[in-house]
Amino acid sequence: MPIKPTICVEKNAAELAAAAADAVIRIAIAAIQARGRFTLALSGGSTPEKAYELLAQPPRLAQLDWSRVHILFGDERFVPPNDPRSNYAMAARTLLAHVPIPSSQILTVPTDTASARAAAQAYCHLVASHFALSPAGPPPMIDLILLGLGDDGHTASLFPGKPSLDEPRVWFTHSSPGVLPPPVDRITATFPLLNAGRTVIFLVAGDKKKDIVHAVLADQSHQYPAARIAPHDGNVLWLLDAAANAAVTKSRPVPPSGSQA
Ligand code: 6PG
Repeated sequence: MPIKPTICVEKNAAELAAAAADAVIRIAIAAIQARGRFTLALSGGSTPEKAYELLAQPPRLAQLDWSRVHILFGDERFVPPNDPRSNYAMAARTLLAHVPIPSSQILTVPTDTASARAAAQAYCHLVASHFALSPAGPPPMIDLILLGLGDDGHTASLFPGKPSLDEPRVWFTHSSPGVLPPPVDRITATFPLLNAGRTVIFLVAGDKKKDIVHAVLADQSHQYPAARIAPHDGNVLWLLDAAANAAVTKSRPVPPSGSQA
């Protein structure tokens, strides 16, 4: 049964990034202790960059046994891995090039395929084989899925009005661009995969996001893709800075602790 999301509000984007990095470390240590490994799905976009950088430097760099970490991508742009628009390129620049994760444990989306559709199919098989699962079966339970939120209420590359929102079974699918840049085809995790997550953390910062955060958190009719993130046996944490939380605050006074259940 999906649990009501938790909201944590940090003073500013820098403190939000630090809180996100600490949450990754905390969840990773618990996962490694419980199951011997930590599976992490990275988000693209600009918001998580600072958190990735903080993970790749002291003190957090030494707090984790990186050899137990397995990385996948919640979504990817259908561009080469060295393209500045690539989510892999951003993750490599800020985190993956600086931490000792075995390369066999970094599952990049194969964007050298003929189409985004072929890339999504190949990625499903790559992830399934990595976790010794059948791609036709239930998805893996990813320990932590990081997600961003677009101004149109998209998350990962699940854009409003696209067929990818209705995918009932496959773990990754393809999508034409949404209304927000970059205008390239995407590969995206689907709701079946995202809602099988153990923990999902939305990272949202900035005044520009305040209205969409409020709208998504109040969205009972699932008008926005992000509102459909509700892990069956997991939990959702919204990590916001005060600017992104401003419209929520206006509608509901924030308790002195700064966090809202
Ligand atoms: C992508 C992301 C996308 C992103 C949101 C928010 O590929 O761009 O996965 O879902 O998280 O668009 O992006 P910002 O963090 O840049 O606002």
